[in-house]
Amino acid sequence: MPQQPIDQPEPSKQLPAAQNEIASPSAETAANESLDGETLTSEADADTSESEVGNNQVVDVDTLIDDETELDNATLFDEKSSYNEDSASDNSQQTEPTVEVEATGSGRFNPKELLRQYGATALACCLCLVLGFAASWFTRPQSVVPQEEATAEQPRPVYVAATSRRNEPISPLAPFADLEPRAIELGKRLFHDPGLSGDARISCASCHQVDQGGEDGRPVSIGIGKAVGNVNAPTVLNAALNFVQFWDGRVETLEEQLEIPIHSETEMGSSWERVVSYLTHNNDYMSQFEEVFGGPPTEERVKEAIVAYERSLITIDSPFDDWLKGDELALDSDEYSGYYLFKQLNCIACHQGPAIGGTMFQKLGEAKTYFADPQAVREIDLGRFNVTGHERDKFVFRVPALRNVASTGPYLHDGSVETLEQAVEIMIEYQVGVPTTSEDVRRIVAFLKSLSGRVPE
Ligand code: HEC
Ligand code: HEC
Repeated sequence: MPQQPIDQPEPSKQLPAAQNEIASPSAETAANESLDGETLTSEADADTSESEVGNNQVVDVDTLIDDETELDNATLFDEKSSYNEDSASDNSQQTEPTVEVEATGSGRFNPKELLRQYGATALACCLCLVLGFAASWFTRPQSVVPQEEATAEQPRPVYVAATSRRNEPISPLAPFADLEPRAIELGKRLFHDPGLSGDARISCASCHQVDQGGEDGRPVSIGIGKAVGNVNAPTVLNAALNFVQFWDGRVETLEEQLEIPIHSETEMGSSWERVVSYLTHNNDYMSQFEEVFGGPPTEERVKEAIVAYERSLITIDSPFDDWLKGDELALDSDEYSGYYLFKQLNCIACHQGPAIGGTMFQKLGEAKTYFADPQAVREIDLGRFNVTGHERDKFVFRVPALRNVASTGPYLHDGSVETLEQAVEIMIEYQVGVPTTSEDVRRIVAFLKSLSGRVPE
């Protein structure tokens, strides 16, 4: 059974709400009343599943239900972060106390006695240390710290979701604030320009068709010279909300991400020199860069423009978001009861946040081994393991966001799953581990389809 889905502290704030919701379905809003008898059946279905998911939820519900106790949650998430890179340092923290216990237990030292004898000296030493530290802190060169922080990593704009009128664990999407429209325009042009690639034939949009779900509809992508890729292209829609990029999360920011397609021999087979030289030889681009950045094209400016465009690709106004914002009629009864099942079956434990995913790493086959035949496992199936080399990261992937999922098939990291129905069946069997009915699957799919929002112009 799963479920230690929580990988980083951020989403922790979401989970208690999700669990609360599951624990008290009766706290539903007026939407309930507008539903017909069919919904009642579905809630009954859902109840059955709940008892079967039981184990799965116990830990989470018990520990998370009092979302007031932030400290408790913080500790809990620390303990649970089995996929967290930092867990190595967690371990070292854990060993310290053990060592101390051994030392005292050995009988060679009697701390109390020592304290009595050397208390004053110890106190003085401590005081000196504290004063010394304080002195060095206040006299430290002030400018160094902030500057280092500023250059160490690209600042990511803070994302603020729209306000929900309902007490639900998912927030409606809102556009990023403070995007520069002219930079977006330039980024859009670059994104769609095959001139950036090695053979002037492949653009970002060849594999990420923004008006068709933000990907290419193929199991795996075809790049420069008809090179065949090895994983399914994820959507660029709402990609700016992912806590890391790629199925295995090997880069964090969109700026870093750009390095891969530009250089990859199976994608665009290009280089920044090539890109910059191509743009510099185009008068139209020269004046557009001048207008947006006050200077000629550079690697940094190209990245900034494309990333601005990617940040603009937030798909607001989905029926589900309209419902969250208070429109009672935005969801029909199938969609609504599908959402109810989504919470009931604890899909929400992994697929959460405003993008309904993209906030944590999880194992494919959390409840039941997915890759039953070890012979059939390919390198790409190892997921996060390829980045960290940790045994526990085998078959671990960044949980994909489910916004617009109706138009991002085929599914899973290898594009092996044709339909959304099949993807949901796999999730119920291998991630949640409960028997299911085709009726449940149908309703969940109806809910997932309500997550398709408006693709920005
Ligand atoms: C040949 C097809 C192809 C081209 C061209 C391509 N991509 Fe991708 N893109 C992919 C594939 C495949 C992945 C997933 C790779 C992985 O996870 O290992 C991906 C991943 C991404 C992601 C991460 C999304 C996520 O959810 O993790 C972003 C963002 C992205 N591409 C943007 C771009 C941009 C910008 C360009 C143009 C500079 C570009 N891509 C060009 C195929 C392509
Ligand atoms: C334990 C965490 C976990 C749970 C619980 C979970 N998922 Fe997933 N889900 C994942 C991961 C990880 C993937 C990506 C697996 C891969 O691509 O190999 C995924 C993929 C998906 C996909 C395919 C998305 C795509 O773009 O390919 C859908 C759809 C989906 N989940 C829906 C659901 C539904 C519905 C439920 C509840 C019945 C659910 N998930 C429960 C972790 C989870």
